[in-house]
Amino acid sequence: MKFAVFATLAVIVGALARPQDSPSGCSNGRNAANPQCCVWFDVLDDLQAGFYQGAKCESPVRKILRIVFHDSIGFSNSLTAAGQFGGGGADGSIIAHSNVELAFGANGGLTTTIEALRAVGLRHGVSYGDLIQFATAVGESNCVGAPRLEFLAGRSNSSQPSPPGLIPGPGNAVTAIINRMADAGLTADDTVDLLAAHSIAAQEGLNGNIFRSPLDSTPQVLDSQFYIETSLKGTIQSGPNLGFAEVRSPIQGEFRMKADADLARDPRTSCRWQEMATSNELVRIRHRAAMAKMSVLGFDRASLIDCSDVIPTPQSLNALPSIPAGLTQADFDNSCPDTPFPNLPVAPGPIPTLAAAP
Ligand code: HEM
Repeated sequence: MKFAVFATLAVIVGALARPQDSPSGCSNGRNAANPQCCVWFDVLDDLQAGFYQGAKCESPVRKILRIVFHDSIGFSNSLTAAGQFGGGGADGSIIAHSNVELAFGANGGLTTTIEALRAVGLRHGVSYGDLIQFATAVGESNCVGAPRLEFLAGRSNSSQPSPPGLIPGPGNAVTAIINRMADAGLTADDTVDLLAAHSIAAQEGLNGNIFRSPLDSTPQVLDSQFYIETSLKGTIQSGPNLGFAEVRSPIQGEFRMKADADLARDPRTSCRWQEMATSNELVRIRHRAAMAKMSVLGFDRASLIDCSDVIPTPQSLNALPSIPAGLTQADFDNSCPDTPFPNLPVAPGPIPTLAAAP
């Protein structure tokens, strides 16, 4: 009996004496179900302290979300069917071949972020494709209301430059956007669900007079507000002129992109869009699934390792979707055939004027 007590104490003391050692051997006593995932804890610490400047939901998160889209969407089944190189999808080619891909018009403003990510990748010896997906999941986890994204590791670091012309533009027609997304393997519903990213977004390159004007009233919260606010009638021009692919918005300081406005109103996407306006939880669940789908474009899911347990849990959101103060149900463009825009409460207070996103 005495021996049993001693042995138990020895185990406890031993465990306390070696906080660095966990069963999986990860740093700082952390655990991952698969020991091969341990490296990602070190990348996590590096990203949160440096790139995300103390785990903030600010401009670097928004930049990585543009990057993950622009990297992954470089994938075309029709080019492959025509016997050409169709792109490697979520392969990190936007970093590996930045000399080619950063010259694409759609990638304006991403150079500094790409170089910061390259340095992180080289420090930890991880592939650029994995790093982009990981930094995306960590970045979203810094934003209130975001899903805890899946993270799969194991993408090869060998890639070729993406063919040009595969990234949808803000002035593109809905048909062009839907067709381009479909050519990469994503449906119109996936497109709507992915665009929850625009609920933590601003613009820098479309209208310099209203630099970092947010795309919804809560650019640091992943929520329904983007879907609600893009569905309201556009009445206000925030800057001295409308920028490239800019249309009027319902709120002073809010930037509305033509593509978002059109997707909110097209019968192929408007009903899903309207559903997303009703529930922050639905946004979170659907966005997570669509991001998981996009993250494996060009890869076989089964060949990757699930390292999702390294991703921090985002802070949950308590607020309910609402119509911005000063506007009413009558201000919606009812765009879903046969289903009126759902009734939503109006936020209290004065009509907002939005500040630039941090
Ligand atoms: C499907 C069609 C899409 C189009 C046409 C589009 C277009 C754009 C454009 C033109 C900007 C402004 C960039 C700037 O001026 O700085 C932007 C911003 C942004 N986009 Fe998209 N986008 C699309 C889909 C997506 C997707 C699928 C994601 C991510 C999953 C995404 C994430 C973002 C984010 C986070 C920003 C804010 C960037 C910042 O604040 O610096 N977009 N998008």
